Amino acid sequence: MEKKWWHQSVVYQVYPHSFQDTNGDGVGDLQGVITRLDYLHYLGIDTIWLSPVYESPNDDNGYDISDYQAIMAEFGTMADMEELIAEAKKREIKIIMDLVVNHTSDEHAWFIEARQSKENPYRDYYIWRDPINGNEPNQLRSIFSGSAWQFDETTSQYYLHLYSKKQPDLNWENPHLRQEIYQMMNFWIDKGIGGFRMDVIDTIGKLPDQEITSNGPKLHDYLQEMNQATFGNKDLMTVGETWGATTDIAKLYSDPKRNELSMIFQFEHVGLDQQAGKDKWDLKPLSIPELKQVLSKWQTSLGNEGWNSLFWNNHDLPRIISRWGNDQDYREESGKMFAILLHMMKGTPYIYQGEEIGMTNYPIKDISEAQDIETINMYHERLTLGFTPEEILCSINAKGRDNARTPMQWDNSEHAGFTTGTPWLHVNPNYQTINVKTALAKKDSIFYTYKQLIELRKNNELIVWGDYQLVTDTPDDVFAYYRTLNNEQWLVVCNMSEKNQPYTLADQAMTLVISNYPQKQIPTGKLNLRPYEAFVLKTSK
Ligand code: NOJ
Repeated sequence: MEKKWWHQSVVYQVYPHSFQDTNGDGVGDLQGVITRLDYLHYLGIDTIWLSPVYESPNDDNGYDISDYQAIMAEFGTMADMEELIAEAKKREIKIIMDLVVNHTSDEHAWFIEARQSKENPYRDYYIWRDPINGNEPNQLRSIFSGSAWQFDETTSQYYLHLYSKKQPDLNWENPHLRQEIYQMMNFWIDKGIGGFRMDVIDTIGKLPDQEITSNGPKLHDYLQEMNQATFGNKDLMTVGETWGATTDIAKLYSDPKRNELSMIFQFEHVGLDQQAGKDKWDLKPLSIPELKQVLSKWQTSLGNEGWNSLFWNNHDLPRIISRWGNDQDYREESGKMFAILLHMMKGTPYIYQGEEIGMTNYPIKDISEAQDIETINMYHERLTLGFTPEEILCSINAKGRDNARTPMQWDNSEHAGFTTGTPWLHVNPNYQTINVKTALAKKDSIFYTYKQLIELRKNNELIVWGDYQLVTDTPDDVFAYYRTLNNEQWLVVCNMSEKNQPYTLADQAMTLVISNYPQKQIPTGKLNLRPYEAFVLKTSK
């Protein structure tokens, strides 16, 4: 496989609403990101995925775009954006923009035009259908609850919205629309960005009449066309958000020979704590053997025909330490364990803001504390279905998206140093102890584990290119694997539980690469792994 810069990168996701406010309006902004570039450079990342910063009425926090070529006023101006790209470049950091082209905002000029009349030239940029017997055209459901069809009085037709009714779906079958999108992408490429993260890109080929949303028949034709019309001949990185992808589907997107995307986000592991066939809100405990099986499958299946992304967190997912670790008694240990487990794997790792200091979920007591449209709609829908408020809040506290979106905790001053105003979303009260300033001052904090892992990836081809092999002969809760390249072999051992676990080292350990507990000597022989203990050894083959 031809080596590209993004094979060896570590990406940091900035959710601009919650990263750093500089003008006291309680909302993060682009100048805020600029002021924190030195921090990110010190951490060692070389790529930032910036969640949407475009003009938006914020029905879905910027994932509802009303102008792709303008910056949201709360975030700043186009000049700020250009400054961010330039300042990042000085620190050898590339900016990946979020590309949200499954839908726009209903306040986008195209939709305002489209809903005027059936004859409007923009009508066909969206997906319209007549009522059937006075009802919705079919049973398609919105991810944000309720029908995916919204009746529009002016023309007495329904339009499709897989997300909120303020996020009408674009009609990718329309070639003019596709060309406009490619032009918009080139506008951003010309500004010097490093690539795109593509929001729910698996749904652009949908067949709404057949109730097929993801993996429609023309999806890959569109991506190949997009590739040719935009980033194909440039040295950019692209990552597609693809919820239902299997390893075979991942190859369709990311096999370099097919000229589509650099890599995708697959979500198979993310679904392991939800009941089969139900929603993410229907909880079940994680089975660690299943996690091992799923992640190992992704590690070994792509070969030279695709590339993995590696992540635990993003702005849609709960914080990993609260989710599958222990955010009370073993926050540091479990946080470092998750970092080591993921960052030693093959693929491009993503760190979500605050993950590097071990930020945790913030449980709410009442629905009035929630901001996220998905959570709020689901709450009301489930109430009508007969769930109790307590049951629903339990799901929200486990899986709600606000968990990841609370403001970044910079220091222990008021509002965690995020803003001098009133934060748009509550700050987690644990900012007094969990914050960047404290983490930087403590030489063995989670931050330094991340920093060390990034450094190791930069300096060891084995981490980037080595083969992966799961160690199968372990207790259920121990996740261990080898990475090998040429004559070198590394062993990664992670106790994923808060109980001690026996582990017998079969190999002769040579060097300790990293560990989340102080080690008096290089581990050898029969071990009793401590809660969430994780280490990496160079071993002799
Ligand atoms: C996925 C994004 O990550 C999420 O935040 C958003 O709500 C949906 N796509 C719709 O754009």
